[in-house]
Amino acid sequence: MTTTPITDTITTLAAEARAALDAAADEAALEAWRVGVLGRGGSLTAVLRSLAGLEPETRRAVGAAANRLRDELEAALAARREALGAQALAAQVAAGALDVTLPGRPLRRGGLHPVTQTLRVILDAFTRMGFDTVEGPEVELDEYNFERLRIPADHPARDMWDTFWLSSLGAAPDRSAGSGAAARDRDAGALLLRTHTSPMQVRYMEQHAPPIRIAVPGRCYRYEATDATHEWMLTQVELLVVDEGVSMADLKGTLQEFARQIFGAQTRVLLRNSYFPFVEPGVELAVSCFACPGDDPACVVCRGSGWLEIMGAGMVHPEILAAAGYDAERVTGFAAGMGVERIAMLRHGIDDIRNFYANDLRFLRQF
Ligand code: PHE
Repeated sequence: MTTTPITDTITTLAAEARAALDAAADEAALEAWRVGVLGRGGSLTAVLRSLAGLEPETRRAVGAAANRLRDELEAALAARREALGAQALAAQVAAGALDVTLPGRPLRRGGLHPVTQTLRVILDAFTRMGFDTVEGPEVELDEYNFERLRIPADHPARDMWDTFWLSSLGAAPDRSAGSGAAARDRDAGALLLRTHTSPMQVRYMEQHAPPIRIAVPGRCYRYEATDATHEWMLTQVELLVVDEGVSMADLKGTLQEFARQIFGAQTRVLLRNSYFPFVEPGVELAVSCFACPGDDPACVVCRGSGWLEIMGAGMVHPEILAAAGYDAERVTGFAAGMGVERIAMLRHGIDDIRNFYANDLRFLRQF
């Protein structure tokens, strides 16, 4: 590059700017320097603007040098600012104005949600008993959530599960058309938020042959008024065991072992008659109260009854086995479904289910 007046200007400017920067002793001086050199009306900016009038070849060479200088000066400014900051800090420490021995502020670590913790304990227990864990869709067809579980439209058992229908995606059932086959066909195509994990019984049997031993965790949704024991969203774990020779004794033995692992070795279980259209017979499983001897009327856990209901269960209805293509004469099975929030409440002595999803850290940090 030959020497031209403009390269002289750049060389002079560079030397002056570096000297001025070294002399700047505080933030105000740095800012004044930045405006005077790199700012919109700054000396280097003026040089860069003047390049437009040069011959193309000179412009390329001089422009490159000027741009390099701008990058260099910007870096020098940042370095000078950092050096001044470090000096100021050292001065404060020397003057005793800053206590560098103060402990730092600890970062708060997050933790697993209490429902997640209980869910893991439950799944661990079943994993040890040889169950596979599988999951299914939360947005479900009426067909799986109800129809194929032997709960047709207008069946009174539907009242057990108040439903969130997804009317913008599928059609909500039109009760005005009455019951019967036509209404049933139309409802079967409707979409909803699953009200329980039982539809996965059907979905899984559709895809697999026995032997089956699965645990199905997942969120469920119910269109209900909330109170201390009801939420519109809940977590369930479904169990399904299907094989030749599976009996009610297997159901009881498996759930007995589960209850002992969750609530302690002394826990007893009680099966009582119940009704769910997809099992026959249907039962409700209760565990003995772990908080009192079983007869304390003041017990806050069992309220004196001695028993805590924790899940519905039963032998898979033969019609459902047959619909899956199994030989219901040879193959039998049991199913169960439990609410994880309910079990977490019992384990931790929580008296209001709404605490789980209120996002109050004062509650959540206790677990
Ligand atoms: N799905 C039932 C409910 O949510 C529970 C259940 C599951 C009952 C499996 C029997 C067998 O209430």
